[in-house]
Amino acid sequence: MKKILIIGAGGQIGSELAPYLRAIYGDNNVVAADISAEKCKNLAEAGPFEALDVLDKGRYIDIVRNYKIDTIFNLVALLSATGEKNPELAWNINIGALTNSLGIAKDNNCAVFTPSSIGAFGNDTPKDKTPQDTLQRSNTTIYGVCKVTGELLSDYYFNRFGLDTRSVRFPGLISYMTLPGGGTTDYAVEIYYEALRKGAFTCNVKAGTYMDMMYMPDALRAVVELMEADPKKLKHRNSFNIAAMSFDPEGIAAEIRKHIPAFRLDYQVDPVKQAIADSWPNSMDDSAAHDEWGWKAEYDLKKMTDDMLVKVKEKLAKGLA
Ligand code: SER
Repeated sequence: MKKILIIGAGGQIGSELAPYLRAIYGDNNVVAADISAEKCKNLAEAGPFEALDVLDKGRYIDIVRNYKIDTIFNLVALLSATGEKNPELAWNINIGALTNSLGIAKDNNCAVFTPSSIGAFGNDTPKDKTPQDTLQRSNTTIYGVCKVTGELLSDYYFNRFGLDTRSVRFPGLISYMTLPGGGTTDYAVEIYYEALRKGAFTCNVKAGTYMDMMYMPDALRAVVELMEADPKKLKHRNSFNIAAMSFDPEGIAAEIRKHIPAFRLDYQVDPVKQAIADSWPNSMDDSAAHDEWGWKAEYDLKKMTDDMLVKVKEKLAKGLA
């Protein structure tokens, strides 16, 4: 990775991955691109930025050629709950972005990283310790349909053209920097803000709904470790299960109460999000990632909660949220 392009750089992952990669590979070697210049003001001040609608293939090609890009981070996607509001749009954007990224990468000899997700699994998938290689009939959300398609398409480009495509199945990502938008796992971010603001939170998925979650520092490190991994050691490519922690709303609330004993949790279940959450794994088995490229999470629920509450409190005190 010498010249990197991040598309969707203003999103939940990109807004943190861009500065993370710039710190490792140099500000000028990481080009941030997003349809919204507004969302990328900080990124544009610190290094190269291009306004890009990824569906505009001509402009996308120009950017890759002008900067002599060798690695593309394809981070453009609508999340699971947003996708259900407009499935055609979600398909067009999520798959349109990936199709352009893979095609352009093939013609310009670039590696491609694309995030997959716990959403790539469905109701028929084993729920506990979900295996790396298992049934993936993820047909209850357009987001899941796009993720499974994305995994297959990325493997196809590797098998057929030798394109260096790599990917992880992210759990719900939790961070104090950029808020997620329209995901089913978003409650696990919002709960920290509301605990500090109001001492109470109304959760839109039921008690007992277990999902894999991960703290953003682990997620960012996973991306770099996978992209830097020796390709000879990779038996899988698209995509690796990676895991860090699995909890339900009661579990995260109990951890928060260690800091805010009076914290109150109640429920107002959103049936769309509940059905999505129910179709996803309770916890994934990430031993293939461990064996093939040494993956190991550093943050568990306790360590993440300690850090989240400090960081979100600072943000609220500064009026930044
Ligand atoms: N965080 C995503 C969502 O909830 C899952 O990958 O949509």
